Parts: sequence; structure tokens; C-alpha cells
Amino acid sequence: LPGHLTVKDGHLYIGRHDCTVLAQEYGTPVYVTDEDRLRENFQRYDSALKKHYEDVQLLYAAKANGNLAVMKVFAELGAGADVFSSGELHLALLAGMEPEKLLFNGSSKTKEDLKLAVEKGVKVSLDSFDELRQLNKIAGDAGKIVEVSFRINPAIDVPTHPKIATGLATSKFGIPADQITDAYRAAMECENVVPVGMHCHIGSQILDVAPFAKAAEVMVKVAGDITALGVRLSFIDIGGGLGIPYRHETEVAPTPEEYADAVLPVFLQGIQKLGIKPQLWVEPGRNLVGDTTVLLTNVNSVKTAHKKFVNVDAGFNLLLRPAMYDSYHEIIVANKADKEAETDYTVTGPICETGDIIAADRKLPMIEDGDILAILDTGAYGYSMSSQYNCRPRCPEVMVAGDRSAVMRRAETVIDIVNTMKKLPWHEK
Ligand code: LLP
Repeated sequence: LPGHLTVKDGHLYIGRHDCTVLAQEYGTPVYVTDEDRLRENFQRYDSALKKHYEDVQLLYAAKANGNLAVMKVFAELGAGADVFSSGELHLALLAGMEPEKLLFNGSSKTKEDLKLAVEKGVKVSLDSFDELRQLNKIAGDAGKIVEVSFRINPAIDVPTHPKIATGLATSKFGIPADQITDAYRAAMECENVVPVGMHCHIGSQILDVAPFAKAAEVMVKVAGDITALGVRLSFIDIGGGLGIPYRHETEVAPTPEEYADAVLPVFLQGIQKLGIKPQLWVEPGRNLVGDTTVLLTNVNSVKTAHKKFVNVDAGFNLLLRPAMYDSYHEIIVANKADKEAETDYTVTGPICETGDIIAADRKLPMIEDGDILAILDTGAYGYSMSSQYNCRPRCPEVMVAGDRSAVMRRAETVIDIVNTMKKLPWHEK
């Protein structure tokens, strides 16, 4: 178990808090995040990189967990953010992140997105020539100059789920190799846009450092080409993507130190050769938040059919990853944390779909209704990918810090959902 999770008297604790007590107090389902662990994760990543190069800026990938309280913790530690929508841009600013430390990413931005980026003075990572043209016009109309990067498609195959490999030659993201110099040349010709950076992202949940080193190699090579054009690079953003060990017993993930040791020398050698000193930007999401959070869910019923089913109150409405990517999350029975796992159970949510399975054929201690299951490592892409499917209001999110705990996002209610709907003018009642 990661350091902030412990077992005492048969109960699972997060930080100093008994998960069964939290479940009682806040109700289930509930996401619980450990603030101290957020800080630890950030500082570890940050110092691993800064050991090699002082000019590193971490841009937290807000999509992984967009709770304002979480983002405020990172803001306070000096983070900027990778924002992928106008909404995430607002969140980052509300969290107190400085506009200079924000990069507006995305392959399909609207004109309103670009306008907001211009208005707030954040850098934009461009993903097409069309977007360059649009941004130049919007910046011109606003009488502003916007600093940009292009997202480079590094054409690197990565060992991860195909849906989250983002830097393949065939993926929708980025400018392909043979168009990169044209893109920067075009940007240099634009009056209201200045190319100052480069950006890439090769994928997520990657458990091998080699592809990251390869990406760094591609990036410094491209940096050479565009420096030769006359572009003065103030930052190179090598994306996020370092995975975490979801299977605690068998999976080994590279540490931030191992990541830094593999990637930074390539980056540093590259820029030294070119005689440039850009800031290094890194955009981790999952690695900073993934292991900080448990999703507590109550067992509504146990049923023996062709298998033993455990029916819980959290489904893919709250945790989509198992249904979407066949992801594995460890499960601990919070009130029986010291009991031997002896029976195979399939843990299913309340959603009206056969695929609403949190864990298939998982060995757990004997389960009864009323037990509390803790689904681990749900801090990244958990709540942030949740939905209201089946008209299920989303659950609350709670933060614990030392002896304290508090709601950092209240539960939604059915009234919240109903209130967004409108009576049509031609319907009588
Ligand atoms: N930067 C960019 C441009 C990205 O597209 C992503 C993730 C990140 C940073 C952060 O990557 P991380 O450090 O978290 O791996 N929903 C999927 C993950 C999708 C990731 C997409 N992009 C999941 O639950 O596994």
C-alpha cells in the first residue's frame, strides 16, 4: 500500500482517517483524497526533475482531477496547468495559478476558447494551420500578441491502452513531422502570434521510461530545425504520461527519479548542443493525483448466480475507467481489511448496463451487504470522467488533511439535474 493508506484494527485508513467512519459521516459513494499525499507527489516529481535542471515548470494536467481544492494545493506549490478547455482555464485561474504558467491545449478549440486564451494572456498550443490563422485574427482584433507553441506529433508507439496513446503517427493530435517547419514558418509570418514553444504528449499510463526518452530526442531534434528558422524557444513541453502501479503486487512503475534520469540527460544534451536554454515544461496528471484518492462504496447486496456478484453503489457513472479501458483498480474491504481474500467476486455498479463492472473475478474476503469497499487509485480520471447516467447525481468529494476532513465538492441532487431542463413552450404542463 502507498504510505498514506494503512490498516489498523481491521479497518482501512486514509491518512489518519478510518474509511468506515468517513463512509458513515459523508455517506457513500464518496471520493476521499489525501492532501498530504498530493503535496508529497508534487514535490517528489518537481525535485526529481530540478535535480537535473533548475529551469523546470510543472504544469498539472487539470483533466486528471479538476477539483478546485486539489488545484489550489498545486497552485500553492508553484504549479501551472495544462488546460484542455475554457472550463479548465477558468479553474486554473480560480485556483490562483498564474496565466504565464498555463498552456491552453487541445486539437479542437472553438473561437470562444481562443478568445478567452487571448483575453487571459495564456499561451496556446496550436494543433493545426487553421487554428493558427484563427488565433492570429482573434489576437489582432483584440490588439494583442499571443505566444504559442505547436503540438508536435512525435510518431512514437507506446506500450499503453490504445485509447490513451496520443502520440502515434495515426492519432488525431499534433502536427506531423513533415509539416512542422512549415507551421513555425507560418507562425513567424503572422503579425499577432509569436512562436516561443514546442509541445508534445505521447500517451498516458506509460510504465516504461524509454518512450519518454525517445520523445525528448525527437523534441530536441525538432528544436534544432526550428531554431535554425530563427524561432527563439522559451519553453519545451514534453507532456505528461508517467503511469502508476495499479496492480500493487505485480506492476512496477518507474519512479519520477527514474523518469528524470532517463529523460533529462537527453533533453540537456540536446539543448546544450543547440546553445539554447528553454524552460522545460512537464505536464503530469495521473502521477500527481492517481494514488491520493479512494472511492468508498457500499455493498447493497450480494448475489450468487453463475458467479458471485457484489452489487455496490458506485458504477461507471462515477468510475468509468474499468468499463472504458478494462482498467484494474485494487479493492480493499474497508471494514475487513485484515481478512484473508478467499472468494472470487465480480463487483458491479448500479448502472443499467452489463458492462458496469468495477472488477471481474476478484478475490476478496467474504462479503456481506453493508460492507464498505475502498476502490484504490481513483484520484486521476475518476470524478473527472463521471456522468449523470441513469439520472444519478454525482457523489461528493472529501479532502482529508491531518486530523481534518471536509467536503470539497458537495453531492449533486436530483433537483440539480432536473433544474437544468426546461419546459418547452408548446407543452401545456
Ligand atoms: N498533457 C496532455 C496534452 C494530455 O493529453 C494528457 C492526458 C496529459 C498531459 C496528462 O497525462 P497523464 O500524466 O495524466 O498521463 N482517461 C484516461 C487518460 C487519458 C489521458 C489523456 N491525456 C485514463 O483514465 O486512463
